Amino acid sequence: MIMGTRLMAPPSSEVCTLFSEAEISTRVDEIARDVSSQSSADILVVAILKGSFVFTADLIRALHRSGVRPQIEFIQLASYGTGTDSQGYVEIIRDLTDPVEGRDVLVVDDILDSGRTLWFAREQLLNRGAHRVQLCVLLDKQARRVQEIDADFVGFECPDEFVVGYGLDHANFYRELPYIGALGIAKP
Ligand code: IMP
Ligand code: MG
Repeated sequence: MIMGTRLMAPPSSEVCTLFSEAEISTRVDEIARDVSSQSSADILVVAILKGSFVFTADLIRALHRSGVRPQIEFIQLASYGTGTDSQGYVEIIRDLTDPVEGRDVLVVDDILDSGRTLWFAREQLLNRGAHRVQLCVLLDKQARRVQEIDADFVGFECPDEFVVGYGLDHANFYRELPYIGALGIAKP
């Protein structure tokens, strides 16, 4: 038996659905069509881990259906703070493995919240010589913005709630939910 500090999984019944599996699927196809019409044919998709892994997996297959043949890279960023609020310091946990010089890059993240993560990612890519950086997020929580930044492609406007599912987590739980819902955590 495994003992230790592992947290008990919370029940998914605590999650109030905001975007259903079917709504997300339809919207991901629409985003892919928008990307295919507004981006170059040989884009490099840079997925920001961990939260965007589910969205990216669906998006790249939708891009394929729209005739785009992307290459895929991953970068893991952490935005430090406590609980459900970050405090402004973004750090690279795992870096890209390939150069981005001269590339047209599509950065994919789960949610645009304060804007610090995508701001940092875009600066990194441009400093490394990327030719063009476009930003794609499934959710845009405009009410929480600290950095002035907009995404080129947005799935849904997100209410000012803490949301989980479809890759988004709380304490690394809930990522597997096929839908997105509000957790009902009080905001600071
Ligand atoms: P930022 O505040 O825009 O830098 O967002 C940083 C990261 O915080 C996002 O990539 C998400 O991983 C995470 N995040 C922000 N809001 C939420 C939320 O409502 N639920 C789960 N994760 C969130
Ligand atoms: Mg994230």
